Amino acid sequence: MNVHKTHQELRASIEEFKAQGKVIALVPTMGALHEGHMSLIKAAKGQADIVVCSIFVNPTQFAEGEDFTTYPRDEAKDIAILLDNGADIVYIPSVEEMYPEREEITEPPIKNGDILEGEFRPHFFRGVGIVVTKLLHQCAPDKAFFGQKDYQQLSVIKQMVKSLGVPVEIIGCPTQREEDGLALSSRNNYLSVWERKIAPELHKIMQEMAEEYRQGTPVEIVCEKGKRKLLAAGFAKVDYLRFCDSQTLLPEIKSSARLLAAAWLGTTRLIDNIEV
Ligand code: PAF
Repeated sequence: MNVHKTHQELRASIEEFKAQGKVIALVPTMGALHEGHMSLIKAAKGQADIVVCSIFVNPTQFAEGEDFTTYPRDEAKDIAILLDNGADIVYIPSVEEMYPEREEITEPPIKNGDILEGEFRPHFFRGVGIVVTKLLHQCAPDKAFFGQKDYQQLSVIKQMVKSLGVPVEIIGCPTQREEDGLALSSRNNYLSVWERKIAPELHKIMQEMAEEYRQGTPVEIVCEKGKRKLLAAGFAKVDYLRFCDSQTLLPEIKSSARLLAAAWLGTTRLIDNIEV
């Protein structure tokens, strides 16, 4: 497995594989790798010859006061995990490598980046859009893999890539869960023992909400009840708990519905989404 720190090294290595006719897959991550990331690597290995995994905690998608400095980082452990799981290339750029110009004037073409997550983290999709555009440019993969756990992120990236005409296929992979239903996330590391016990309630309550929705209970009633249940379970605050169109993510449901949620357990913000 090759470990590259600069985009020139990465590109040289990828050009060699491309010259041999190999299909390249990129799995962008922020490290702190878990089984959810491994499922992306596995899917990528099934659909490409060479799997590149990038590890970069992207400062532009964190706002002041968010967890950029405390975000879990363990490069040696991540590299060992990737080696074990058969990744071919690891790309670990520095902040200077990714952002050589201190002034970032880039505005990625993002649609609906101000709803749901964007309402509560207004900087987030701009930062994700910038870094994903840079990574796609540097790596030039044929396919790129993202988890459905970040459903809105996946949707924003698909639309951005289409709008920019980037020649890459964006592939969404199912959310991986603990046995008790908690969606795998690097931020689960922040949960105390007590919070970890409560955390699966988010998925459980969302499933109950989806069932009530299917039975025809009005959306407002389902959402109000869901919110009350979360607060009663021990969640400190609910940012959103909404049924949206699975394609547009708007409240008017034209195709199928998707339930998206973000809620705080102590100082940890959990997000999740399910098909309805
Ligand atoms: O989902 C993530 O881990 C990040 O948002 C991503 C896509 C790697 C961009 O930094």
